[in-house]
Amino acid sequence: MRFLVVLACFLAASLAEEEHISHPKPQPCSSSSLQSGGLTVSTQNEKLWTYAKFIYDGPGQQMRLWESGTYQNKSFSIDVLLKYKQGVMYLIDDKNKTCIKQDLKSPFHPMEVPKDAFLLAQAVIGSSSGPNQGLLVNTWQGDLPDKSGRYMTTFTAFGCIPINTSYQTKEFGWVVVNFFNNVIGTPDPNQFIPPDYCPTAEAKGGAEKAGDFLSMLQML
Ligand SMILES: *[C@@H]1O[C@H](CO)[C@@H](O)[C@H](O)[C@H]1NC(C)=O
Ligand SMILES: *[C@@H]1O[C@H](CO)[C@@H](O)[C@H](O)[C@H]1NC(C)=O
Ligand SMILES: *[C@@H]1O[C@H](CO)[C@@H](O)[C@H](O)[C@H]1NC(C)=O
Repeated sequence: MRFLVVLACFLAASLAEEEHISHPKPQPCSSSSLQSGGLTVSTQNEKLWTYAKFIYDGPGQQMRLWESGTYQNKSFSIDVLLKYKQGVMYLIDDKNKTCIKQDLKSPFHPMEVPKDAFLLAQAVIGSSSGPNQGLLVNTWQGDLPDKSGRYMTTFTAFGCIPINTSYQTKEFGWVVVNFFNNVIGTPDPNQFIPPDYCPTAEAKGGAEKAGDFLSMLQML
């Protein structure tokens, strides 16, 4: 999840005028620090499509994904543990009890609406005609920190639960992440601990040919 920083707020004033007077102005928010659920990732150039179950730990800066999908028309499935504080990732094969440890260079992106994002729109997904027929969401926009492009992200207005996020990349064009079945908390904190068959020493290599794909994962 690339929830990133930086933005001029010159549009904020004009947006404010369009706000409904009866609603307080939505504020950027942080999602729950422990979460689990499902997500899909797809890319504009159709190189990558994946479906994943995830667990997320904001304070611990770690995430684990059980993904399957297609990358350059080849199907794959992968179990990956991303530990940003330690700067390592583990590619885990639980069936074969093998594990590859790799450097993880990208910074951690918490599940949040960056403080300097600006509000594009508030909307109801579904219907507002009856109770429980719709979901009130806020869509935010901003520039990526390195100014290489933009991001857009939608969170629920209540609870600050991520709905989707999209951002521009050189390699893939627009990358779109959709979230579903989010639950507060993680079912098993042990899943953040690498299995005992994972190497403990610095270990690289073995997965170089998946470089693009790995860099993709690192942006999540
Ligand atoms: C994937 O398959 C489609 C249809 O066969 C083809 O047009 C496309 O070039 C392929 N993409 C890659 C990255 O191989
Ligand atoms: C796991 O082991 C089986 C049997 O040796 C092999 O065919 C398969 O490719 C291995 N899987 C991975 C992901 O290496
Ligand atoms: C994200 O969700 C909002 C609200 O449903 C929708 O308007 C927007 O098109 C979605 N964005 C993407 C990239 O799917």
